[in-house]
Amino acid sequence: MDTAHPSFPILVALFVLLLGVTSSQPYEEFLQCLEFHDSNITSIVYTRANSSFSSLLESSIRNPRFDTSATPKPLLIFTPRQISHIESAIRCSRAHRIQIRVRSGGHDYEGLSYSTDQNSSFLLLDLIRFRNISIDLAQQTAWIQPAVTTGELYYRIAEKSSILAFPSGICPTVGLGGQISGGGWGTLLRKYGLAADNVLDATVIDAKGRILNRASMGEDLFWAIRGGGGNTFGIVIAWKIKLVPVPATVTACTVTRTLEQNATEIVHRWQYVVDKLPNDVFFMVVLNSVANPVQANATTIQASFNSLYLGGIEGLIPMMDAKFPDLGLRRENCVEMSWAKSILYFAGFPLNSPLESLLDRTISATGSAKFKGKSDYVKEPIPISGFEGIWEKLKEVGVQTGGLILASYGGKMSEIPESSIPFPHRAGNIYQVEEVAFWVEDGVEAADGYLNWLRGLYEYMTPYVSKNPREAYANYRDLDIGRNGGGGEGDYRRARSWGSSYYKNNFDRLVRVKTAVDPANFFRNEQSIPPLSSWR
Ligand code: FDA
Repeated sequence: MDTAHPSFPILVALFVLLLGVTSSQPYEEFLQCLEFHDSNITSIVYTRANSSFSSLLESSIRNPRFDTSATPKPLLIFTPRQISHIESAIRCSRAHRIQIRVRSGGHDYEGLSYSTDQNSSFLLLDLIRFRNISIDLAQQTAWIQPAVTTGELYYRIAEKSSILAFPSGICPTVGLGGQISGGGWGTLLRKYGLAADNVLDATVIDAKGRILNRASMGEDLFWAIRGGGGNTFGIVIAWKIKLVPVPATVTACTVTRTLEQNATEIVHRWQYVVDKLPNDVFFMVVLNSVANPVQANATTIQASFNSLYLGGIEGLIPMMDAKFPDLGLRRENCVEMSWAKSILYFAGFPLNSPLESLLDRTISATGSAKFKGKSDYVKEPIPISGFEGIWEKLKEVGVQTGGLILASYGGKMSEIPESSIPFPHRAGNIYQVEEVAFWVEDGVEAADGYLNWLRGLYEYMTPYVSKNPREAYANYRDLDIGRNGGGGEGDYRRARSWGSSYYKNNFDRLVRVKTAVDPANFFRNEQSIPPLSSWR
């Protein structure tokens, strides 16, 4: 990552030229402040004039929608090597009133870890060098740094044990800094809950630049950082996580059905079964429009039923025959493998892919496609007529450009109280829905077309999903449901609407914690929890 850098005075001079004297003032002083704390620190500060600036910025942009010339860019990128660098960055940013955006894996749905929706200036604190994993097999725990991806973690666990895992997300490139900060669900959620439910301790740097652990931060802040959203309460520099047992062999299955193969009835029936299955079964359904396999130049809707069973095929098939015969699951739909390999399976890798694929941070689940996601929770089965309307919506967009992902709840998720951590979507939910649009076309017009389509689908879903509040998953950040003012200036009353969608009754406790630990709202973005002082 290190490249040749201009010496500090040249760097400052370039910066002054770039910004004009007045606007550069705080940045010049900020850089001087950093250098005061550590004279070598400027080698890890990248200005827009640096030749590595763009490649470094783009290296962790996981939604190309926010990688255009119109996307607001940071004025500086800072890639700390050690904790003291982060402390200095916080102290200097505070002193010179520079906003910080923190990035671990860069998967923020709205690009808020490396951009803003306003044209406010900010420093990008990129934690890319914080990637250590330290596993304690005897204690079945691990300390992980925030830029560790889920794939890297799963691979390192598998290197040491085939019967341990961690219940985090499916996509292997997501950073655990952001993911655990918002919850983190994956194929083990019905057995063990979320990633954030399995955090034992953490190291956080707060707005005063203090390094805190669970004992010194206190239970309120420790509660808030496990799901209350990133870039809000401090910078997480390590999580201590509890590893969970899995069998050496698990079974992953896929059954696809089109409308012509009874997809509507099977998806409808799935809703009555899925949250009541044994906790060892996870079930996901992907709904989208596909080329009709039996009719040229026509499309149909496909439902892809993807399941993971914590055990061998022999145990799975009779159970599914008894509990969900409508699916018609057969041995040939299933493959036995290790739990770590099942992540590659769910992430869409070919079956013979090496486990090392989990280490590839650069692969993108969405390819070069731009995307937007929205989320919902379903508490009552959607009627057949409701699905028929969804099919009409899916037919409005091209093949594979829009869809819904339904992920089964129940099991352990229903046993954990809503207030255990800030993530509140527990008992009473049959499944979580993600509505998503993907597109490759460039330009505002194309984007608006897909965004409007997605918003239309979301509107259509209203009668079938949770109400008062209409719940949403914080990690599927959606600025349509509300945002703070310019550059993340918080307003309690405004924030309450989107805040209760993400956190339900936990929102007020999050505000109290924020008010206690960061009353000046130093850590902020368009959807960070505001302190109470912001009540206007
Ligand atoms: P990023 O670095 O963009 O951070 C996200 C947010 O957290 C930002 O606000 C950022 O400032 C803040 N943040 C980051 N590091 C921090 C730190 N160390 N301390 C404090 N704040 C920090 N979710 C899920 O639950 N299960 C899944 O299977 C998937 N799959 C998935 C696939 C793909 C392709 C995408 C794009 C996203 C997902 N997600 C997901 C959603 C994902 O969990 C969510 O976007 C996370 O916030 C991403 O974390 P990153 O660290 O990668 O993002």
